[in-house]
Amino acid sequence: MTYLPSTERYQTMEYRRCGKSGIKLPALSLGLWHNFGGIDNYENARNMIKLAFDKGITHFDLANNYGPPAGSAEETFGSVFKKDLQAYRDELLITTKAGFYMWQGPYGEWGSKKYLVSSLDQSLKRMGLDYVDIFYHHRPDPDTPLEETMAALDLIVRQGKALYVGISNYSASETEKAVKLLKELGTPCLVHQAKYSMFERWVEGGLLDVLEQNGAGCVAFSPLAQGMLSDKYLNGIPADSRAASGRGNGALEGERITQEKINQIVKLNDLAKSRGQNLAQMALSWILKDPRITSVILGVSKPVQLTDSLKCLDNTKFSEEELQTINQILG
Ligand SMILES: NC(=O)c1ccc[n+]([C@@H]2O[C@H](COP(=O)([O-])OP(=O)(O)OC[C@H]3O[C@@H](n4cnc5c(N)ncnc54)[C@H](OP(=O)(O)O)[C@@H]3O)[C@@H](O)[C@H]2O)c1
Repeated sequence: MTYLPSTERYQTMEYRRCGKSGIKLPALSLGLWHNFGGIDNYENARNMIKLAFDKGITHFDLANNYGPPAGSAEETFGSVFKKDLQAYRDELLITTKAGFYMWQGPYGEWGSKKYLVSSLDQSLKRMGLDYVDIFYHHRPDPDTPLEETMAALDLIVRQGKALYVGISNYSASETEKAVKLLKELGTPCLVHQAKYSMFERWVEGGLLDVLEQNGAGCVAFSPLAQGMLSDKYLNGIPADSRAASGRGNGALEGERITQEKINQIVKLNDLAKSRGQNLAQMALSWILKDPRITSVILGVSKPVQLTDSLKCLDNTKFSEEELQTINQILG
């Protein structure tokens, strides 16, 4: 049956301008790092992608290595795109990245022009796209000159293979350098994609200021600390959770859910209830309270999680007292 997206898809989502650029992103985006790979249920993945679009999520975040196996999330997305979304290409903001290990030999990871150009060509084939909307360098490369990596991003835009470029996992000082180089080349750095959650607040120590000063946006990833910032681990590790999955590739492992974390989660959960939210919703709202955050990327394993998380948009304001309580809990 032909998929017809909801006619109300633009009525409830909030869209935020990405830095000082012309492009707007939905406050909530969908990420395909886990749950969309070759090892996952295809129809479930397809349903989550379609549901996201129905709810006004126009931004889908991928990377060359998402899966597992690496590359398979792009294949899943490509297949769903072909079946369901092709007619809506101009309503979609599709991103991919390169930086982590993809293939053997000296050109299969990091930040050389050779790797970045080849990897994006492979990603475009897997997704069946002519271009991506944002191409990211996924992690800083200690060995390749930053000039080469940024020149590769500039080249990719000039070739028409990406409309915008971004960086991910760069420190504040590395970001300053990259932004300056890209500006000189005439291809501005649109966005930085950074790990940010109540449990991971490093961006507050300078990165957000650097991005604001340079008119770049910030997209937050792993906003629930891979699911820890929800009520799911309050009574042990459920069998259908990421922590029990043994997926590898950086996925949350049970041993990272320490008693100290559980103690914090219990208190945060109580605070969320007092705000009329569940913990996942409060954790997402807490990130979105900062206008410098352009979008928060959700990772979901079931459609119901997406519906649940979207409700965070109903309450993104925090009182001073609530913020202080959160800071005290987090220590
Ligand atoms: N640039 C980078 O280096 C980088 C790195 C990592 C991620 N990312 C991007 O960020 C995206 C999100 O990362 P993430 O998957 O770590 O995000 P996350 O939101 O921190 O964790 C997602 C997990 O949280 C659980 N969850 C989600 N919604 C829930 C809800 N409403 N209630 C209870 N549990 C809920 C699910 O766990 P279960 O699976 O246990 O159900 C889900 O798989 C990725 O897909 C990727 O696009 C980028």
